[in-house]
Formats: sequence, C-alpha cells, structure tokens
Amino acid sequence: MSFQKKNKFIFGSAGFGMPAYGFSSSSNASNSDSFLKYIHNIGIRNIDTAPSYGHAENSIGLYHKYNDKKFNIWTKVDGLKVNSHFTMDQVLKSIKESKKKLNVSEIECLYLHQNDIAIIEDKFVQNALKEIKICGLVKKVGVSIYNSLELESALSNDIFDTIQLPVSVVNTHLYNVANKHICKKTLVARSIFLQGTLLNIEKKIERFNYFDEICTMIKFLKELAYSYKVDYMGMLVSYVNSLEGLDHIIVSSKNKTNLDKILKKSGLKLNQDLKLKINEISEKLNDWTNPRNWLS
Ligand SMILES: NC(=O)c1ccc[n+]([C@@H]2O[C@H](COP(=O)([O-])OP(=O)(O)OC[C@H]3O[C@@H](n4cnc5c(N)ncnc54)[C@H](OP(=O)(O)O)[C@@H]3O)[C@@H](O)[C@H]2O)c1
Repeated sequence: MSFQKKNKFIFGSAGFGMPAYGFSSSSNASNSDSFLKYIHNIGIRNIDTAPSYGHAENSIGLYHKYNDKKFNIWTKVDGLKVNSHFTMDQVLKSIKESKKKLNVSEIECLYLHQNDIAIIEDKFVQNALKEIKICGLVKKVGVSIYNSLELESALSNDIFDTIQLPVSVVNTHLYNVANKHICKKTLVARSIFLQGTLLNIEKKIERFNYFDEICTMIKFLKELAYSYKVDYMGMLVSYVNSLEGLDHIIVSSKNKTNLDKILKKSGLKLNQDLKLKINEISEKLNDWTNPRNWLS
C-alpha cells in the first residue's frame, strides 16, 4: 500500500485486544503478530493501549520481543482513588507492569484512564504524575476526556501535556474549545467514527439511548456524501484529518483491510462547501454524541 511514511496516526488497540469491543464491522481479527508488523510497515509508529484492553499489552510485548521495529507506547493507569496516600505506589506499579508486559523501556505518554473530574483534579494523582515525569519514567502525561468540564480542568492544569478527546463529523465542540485555548497541549483525536457507530450501527442487536438520533444523523450524512459524490467513510475520516491543530489521530480496526481503507481515504480533499456543512453539524453540543449517555 502506498501511504505517507510520516503521519499523525496512532493505532488504537482496544478492538485489537478485545475483539468484541465497540461497534465492530464483525470482520475477522487479523493475526496479532502479522497485524502489528503490517501496522509498522505502513508507517504507524504509535500505539494507544491500556492495561484493561484485554490481551493488547501482552500481544504488543510479544511482538516487541521478536521484532526490532518498535512502537512508541501511549498507555493508561486505571483504578485510582480520590485522596489516597497509595496513589503514587499504584501509579508506579501500573507503569512497571505495563513496561514489562509491553517489553519497552520507555512510555511515550501515560494517561489517566478514569474520565472522572474528581480523579483529574485530585492532588495525590497530580503529584504522582508530576513525579513520574521528573523521574523520567514517562515522557508525557495526559488525560482522556469526554466532556467540557473535564476538558476545561485539563486545559487549565500545567501538569497535563496531552489531552485525548473524541473528534468526529458529529462532534468538534470539544476540539474547538481545546484548539482555541491559550494553553497549547498535545491534542489526540479518538473515536473518529463515534466508537464505530457511524459505520456499523446496524450490527448491534441491542438498542441503546439515542439509537434513533444516531441513525437519523447517519442517513443525513450518507445523503450528504452522496450529493457531493464523495465516499461516505472517506468523508468521515478525511474531515477529521483536515482539522488544524490535531497532533495525532487514533485509527482503530482489528482487521487489515479496514485499516487499509481508513488510511487510503484519510487524505481525500473535501470540497470547502461540504466542509462548512459538516462544521455546522459537528460544532453543536449534543447529548447523543457522548457514549457515556448511551447507557441508562
Ligand atoms: N481513553 C478512552 O477513554 C478511550 C475511549 C474509547 C477509545 N479509546 C481509544 O481509541 C481507539 C478507537 O476507539 P473507538 O472504538 O471509539 O474508535 P472509532 O475509530 O470511532 O471506531 C472504531 C470501530 O470502527 C470500525 N471500523 C474501522 N474501520 C472500519 C471500516 N473500514 N469499515 C467498517 N468498520 C470499520 C472498527 O471495527 P473493525 O475492528 O471491525 O474494523 C472499530 O470497531 C480505541 O481502540 C482506544 O485505543 C480510548
């Protein structure tokens, strides 16, 4: 595949480590080792993972053991408690275990996996993150956020270098706030297909809150793509890729063919008029774009 060797993509490994995760196309999972070799060969050098992503950390570690071409790792720490004297120990333990499993000596970024304002603002948590950076245990620390409150908190705190946030054709509200903010952070876009719903909503049998709203939006977006003679999936991915100020974009599939399609279509040049129409949709703040509201 011809694909630019220098790119801003990070491979998201939730579905890779847990094949039943999210709104998958139900395509077969590619073999772990050959899949990671393929990802490296096409020019992706960064992986987003977490101790809670099934076998992901272990499989990446196995790949690292037998391959010289390593990945930069962005992983997470989970299960922290508010106002706890054990936080530092817990963070150190988590980093040590992740490095061991992943077979790496360096961590590019450690995120707080808990999208919880009480954890993000906790002094013990913030001190632990500060310490691990000073000691050189990780290069960067970050938060993974879902809403405006968490975003504002992360933007106003010097400790956080990186913010991972949802960005898609239906959700640029948070991105717009972060991108205009005076404090420049490394911005990492995730859930570019709204956790896969924009591509595979019909594959889920169980209904959830806002199912109808999302279906209506998908129909509208497909008609929009059709009227501008642009491939629907290409429109979704190239719109996010065209947004300025995003340092990285997480792309995710457990299948080579699907990942190939995403990367090939990420560089489509969208008509300016179409972009303006998508801007109008995406900048609105809607409850249905937050997956935390999907479950009662
Ligand atoms: N920190 C956090 O709180 C958090 C939360 C969510 C996600 N994340 C990170 O972000 C990554 C992406 O998350 P997401 O699931 O929300 O992302 P997404 O990019 O919105 O959706 C990914 C889904 O799209 C499907 N897909 C991809 N390409 C496709 C194609 N060409 N045709 C049909 N379906 C396709 C994939 O299914 P197939 O595998 O079947 O292709 C996958 O289930 C995760 O892996 C994780 O690393 C972090």
